[in-house]
Amino acid sequence: MDTLVSVGITGVGGYAPPGILTNHDLEKMVDTSDEWIRTRSGISNRHIADAATATSDIALPAARQALERAGLAAEELDMVVMATFTPDYLLPATACTIQHALGATRAGAFDLAAACTGFIYALNIVAPSIATGQFRNALVIGGDTLSKVTDYTDRGTCVLFGDGAGAAVLQPVPAGRGLLSSYLRADGGGCEMLYIPGGSTRKPATHETVDARDHFVKMSGNEVFRFAVRALEEAVLEALGRAGLTTADVDLIVPHQANIRIIDGAAKRLGIPEDRWVINLHEYGNTSGGSIPLALNEAYEQGRLHEGDVVVFVAFGGGLTWGASVLRW
Ligand code: ACO
Repeated sequence: MDTLVSVGITGVGGYAPPGILTNHDLEKMVDTSDEWIRTRSGISNRHIADAATATSDIALPAARQALERAGLAAEELDMVVMATFTPDYLLPATACTIQHALGATRAGAFDLAAACTGFIYALNIVAPSIATGQFRNALVIGGDTLSKVTDYTDRGTCVLFGDGAGAAVLQPVPAGRGLLSSYLRADGGGCEMLYIPGGSTRKPATHETVDARDHFVKMSGNEVFRFAVRALEEAVLEALGRAGLTTADVDLIVPHQANIRIIDGAAKRLGIPEDRWVINLHEYGNTSGGSIPLALNEAYEQGRLHEGDVVVFVAFGGGLTWGASVLRW
């Protein structure tokens, strides 16, 4: 075990498509109001891809930015991982499209499906391969084009979701830095709390499934809400404990950007002061796999990440899945 090296994030990037859907736009589409959306979720805008834009198109600018900031050429990448549940195609993996477009000619590539927890899963599944020397340089991207699977006649979901992606380059870093611990969990018993029933093998696409709007996200909002507050608290405490740290040690926490009330609830239960939380959901809504790396990129651009800081990522989502990671920046 003494041959393990520390693994950290050496470059970040983010991208959201330029089109914006405001609460006032949504007032004209479903029975809702700007006031209801802001007070119940904290969201004002979301960025929405146009008809020609797929998930790899929004992932690529984020990936290029992360590589540039890490000072790494695409040909030096050993692995490209795309965390998404809105791939360009069911086959092949969106990561392969990205690998090709980047010119990552020496890299393997695969997609990882863990919904909104996908970026944290990807980080923690890839890092040990670098730690053991199996490979050196990896690109982990999280991103979703949720607008393509959102039912804009369902006010219970359409006000929440947006499109966006973020990326991180993982490489060996000096001992004591980088990823310190992780905590990853799942409970498939909650599958139907948040899922897309149609268009895959359980219910292949037919005229009937399309008419029934089965290709869109279905969510039991209240149930997910209750699970989310518990899951955030549990994951943060477990991951911090595994790193031998407490909530008092946290310098910055980047949570999944689903609902400001979920974040506020978790912040209160954990006793982590408001100014340590990175929050951008008012501008992007819930971008699922893109949520954490997009917020991380924003924190980086705002100068909120300092060498030596204890940084926590925490998420929950479809699966159900939930988890957290602790890093020393
Ligand atoms: N505008 C106006 N009224 C609405 C809207 C809307 N957009 N949506 C729901 N309502 C109504 C409901 O119909 C209900 O009306 P009723 O009392 O007449 O039946 C009332 O508002 C209250 O509904 P609730 O569902 O109890 O509202 P709640 O306060 O729970 O907020 C919300 C709903 C925002 C969906 C919340 O439950 C939530 O955020 N849940 C978590 C969702 C989440 O985080 N999902 C992401 C998972 S990540 C992933 O993997 C994609």
